[in-house]
Amino acid sequence: MNKDKFLIKGLNGKRSLKGSVVVGGAKNAALKLMAAAVLFKDKVELKNVPEIEDIKRMADLFEDMGIRVEKTAEHSYTLTAPSKCKTKFSSDISKHIRASIVLTGPVLARFGKVSFPHPGGCVIGKRPIDLFVDGFEKMGARVKVEDDSYVIEAEEGKLMGATIFLRNQSVTATETFMMAGVLATGETVIKNAPIEPEVEHLANFLIAGGAKIKGVGTTTVTIKGGSLLSAKGRSHPVMPDRIEAGSFLILGALTSQELEIKKCNPEHLEALTEALRYSGVKMEIGKNSIKVFGGVPSMRFKSVDIKTHEYPGFPTDLQAPMTVFLTQANGESMVFETIFEGRLNYSESLVRMGADIKMMDPHRIIVKGPSALHGKILESPDLRAGLAFVIASIIAEGDSVIHNVYNIDRGYENIEKRLQDIGVEIERVSEK
Ligand code: EPZ
Repeated sequence: MNKDKFLIKGLNGKRSLKGSVVVGGAKNAALKLMAAAVLFKDKVELKNVPEIEDIKRMADLFEDMGIRVEKTAEHSYTLTAPSKCKTKFSSDISKHIRASIVLTGPVLARFGKVSFPHPGGCVIGKRPIDLFVDGFEKMGARVKVEDDSYVIEAEEGKLMGATIFLRNQSVTATETFMMAGVLATGETVIKNAPIEPEVEHLANFLIAGGAKIKGVGTTTVTIKGGSLLSAKGRSHPVMPDRIEAGSFLILGALTSQELEIKKCNPEHLEALTEALRYSGVKMEIGKNSIKVFGGVPSMRFKSVDIKTHEYPGFPTDLQAPMTVFLTQANGESMVFETIFEGRLNYSESLVRMGADIKMMDPHRIIVKGPSALHGKILESPDLRAGLAFVIASIIAEGDSVIHNVYNIDRGYENIEKRLQDIGVEIERVSEK
């Protein structure tokens, strides 16, 4: 893990950034396609994989288990699962990456056993795994806790199809059971499933490999268990990252005269573009790109209330960057984080920068704008709040230092280079 920091020179309200930014492959889709490789009897090839720390950690975990990961070109990887592999996750690696939890589904379904420590990742609230334990038990597995690890074994090495109603619409739980269901005996039905585009993307990937899945894109997904999947030599591109695209859009609204966000899917961003449009941001929405026009600095945006929600509602992963936007909007906006508790704590740092934000309770803040922000020494608490700090530092007056850049590198590829290309004065300093 690197100990780098960013030095950022603020624009002091100027709207001078210009040019275009190309959006990379989606972290939260790529990690799941990697996990799905365990369900294939042949080599899986993925393209448009973002070169980010979370992907590297997932590849480290795979290598440790004996699953072969090869980088064939920039953004291209092949993955080959052996007929036998280690079923115990390295705790050193998996504690750094929450998404390792999705690997439990395919490993348990294929090899009959899996053990893993409580998964790590971002510090955004409790992040329980009760839905996973419950669902696996419904599929006939025995769950034990031994030496701080969960040990899960399928009855006679084979999972049984089951009906799993999710008490909470969990993205990773749905993806995990969808993959487990591919090799289970009989039918697995996931009810109250979230319809995030990444879930649909994974389902279509599995279907292309021969899985029998119905109800894709709806809240009831049915998987008919069968045999190992086959990639048949085809390669699969990872969908564009909607969170990265949305963050650039917010940056563009605050700091540019005109910025083009390329290679994105605007259909996945409607909750954000609708909120920005209401607020007064001018955009030109194309098929695979969005142009955003920040206008003149004296132009004020209108306040707008935000409530995070499962897709197609406002994504929790864009909540922190949107709060930075709202510090510059005229009037009072309420931000209601409904998915994770503890995901508003970063707002204290925005207050130190000069924002007028009042915490009502752990789920709600009131943002009063506009406020001039001032450069400060900051520490990135998680990857999305980390990027929000980058945006806040860019609009601020004066210099900022952002520590713990590793958290930003977890989800955004070469972010400083892409920001420099549009005019941001940002520099990475490596701390030994
Ligand atoms: C996924 O997390 C994403 N991560 C998150 O992105 C994203 O914020 C989140 O979905 C919501 O969209 C990955 O895809 C790797 P959940 P996930 O399970 O699946 C509760 C980022 O920044 N819950 O859908 O872990 C949970 O507490 C990350 O890229 C249980 O109660 O989130 C929450 O309230 C952060 N029990 C709700 O479900 C469980 O066993 C939804 O969380 C599991 C979850």
